[in-house]
Amino acid sequence: MKVIQLGIGGMGNTWLNAVRRSEEVAHAGFVEINDAIAREQASAYSLDPATIFKSLPEALEKLNADAVIDVTPPQFHRANSTLALEAGLPVLSEKPLAGTLEDARAIVAKVQETGITHMVAQNYRYRPLTQTVKSVLETGELGALGAVRAEFFKGPRFGGFREEMPHPLIIDMAIHHFDMMRLFLGSDPSEISARSWNPPWSWFKGDASAAAAMRFKNSVFVSYSASWCSQALPTSWNANWRFDCEKGVMLVEDDVVTVQDLSQVTDRRGALANVHGDRRLVPLLEMEREGQDYLLHEFFEAVTKGAPVATSAQDNIRTVEFVFGVVQACDSGDAVKLS
Ligand SMILES: NC(=O)c1ccc[n+]([C@@H]2O[C@H](COP(=O)([O-])OP(=O)(O)OC[C@H]3O[C@@H](n4cnc5c(N)ncnc54)[C@H](O)[C@@H]3O)[C@@H](O)[C@H]2O)c1
Repeated sequence: MKVIQLGIGGMGNTWLNAVRRSEEVAHAGFVEINDAIAREQASAYSLDPATIFKSLPEALEKLNADAVIDVTPPQFHRANSTLALEAGLPVLSEKPLAGTLEDARAIVAKVQETGITHMVAQNYRYRPLTQTVKSVLETGELGALGAVRAEFFKGPRFGGFREEMPHPLIIDMAIHHFDMMRLFLGSDPSEISARSWNPPWSWFKGDASAAAAMRFKNSVFVSYSASWCSQALPTSWNANWRFDCEKGVMLVEDDVVTVQDLSQVTDRRGALANVHGDRRLVPLLEMEREGQDYLLHEFFEAVTKGAPVATSAQDNIRTVEFVFGVVQACDSGDAVKLS
């Protein structure tokens, strides 16, 4: 399968390498609007400069491609996805599906109109840590899930669009954690309360810190607390998590998963007493393919064999609605209900 990759700087490096590792997918060519980046990357990756174009219409006209991988900043996703789908090409797009909820909904409408595969790169789902947590919850060994707490603190200095956009933490980063919540709970939020703020030392124009409390449709409560300009003691990119369940607790700290069970015994007077088991380490699952390698393989299977994709635009719009629901709650100060 031959793909056109849009955007070869920044995160484009990760996709250049993922396609190179793949035995199923190869590059037909590239679109890059920045000449200096195009030159640098052609040299660094030995790309044929004749296969690098300045616009998608030009690339579509000159190249023989089966699909598109979009690694441009969010504000370009709608135009790129629309052009590709109208040309009959499936799309694997970096998150977020689009820069605004309106654009994301327009992409979903185009996907429904054309019936062509469009999937979103929610790569955090396809990490051993995420899959391990999901599998513990699925076994049911901890009983019903009641509440979840997630915390994320880092202080990266990216420069570029993230330092200019509104709500960089929520829209560009928390989207991964919100998508993980949807995966872990197998449910979507129905009610969101949230606040965001910018610490005095923040180097972001938009709010870099936020706290949110969510009720999910399956009645599980989730609290989220995060910052992108925390100065020390960072968490993992995957965040730290606590899952409070009927028969125990699962903790994820610095990418280490531990579980403590609860048994109830009857004491000498016939009263119920809690007995905690040892805190035990849960080994991380091994995966044949992780992250972008997993996504690329899933995309290949969908395009060539019609296999379903988990993070289709039609499903991922729920993650986008979640993100913009939190943004709306922060901006309005009111609780937001999602249907
Ligand atoms: N899944 C993840 O873990 C992850 C991590 C980082 C970035 N991302 C996502 O990847 C996307 C790109 O982010 P980035 O950090 O690489 O941004 P970036 O600004 O560093 O790089 C974007 C690249 O695309 C090029 N570009 C911009 N507009 C273009 C257009 N219209 N056509 C072709 N090329 C264009 C730029 O010149 C640059 O080379 C964003 O949607 C971002 O959220 C995802």
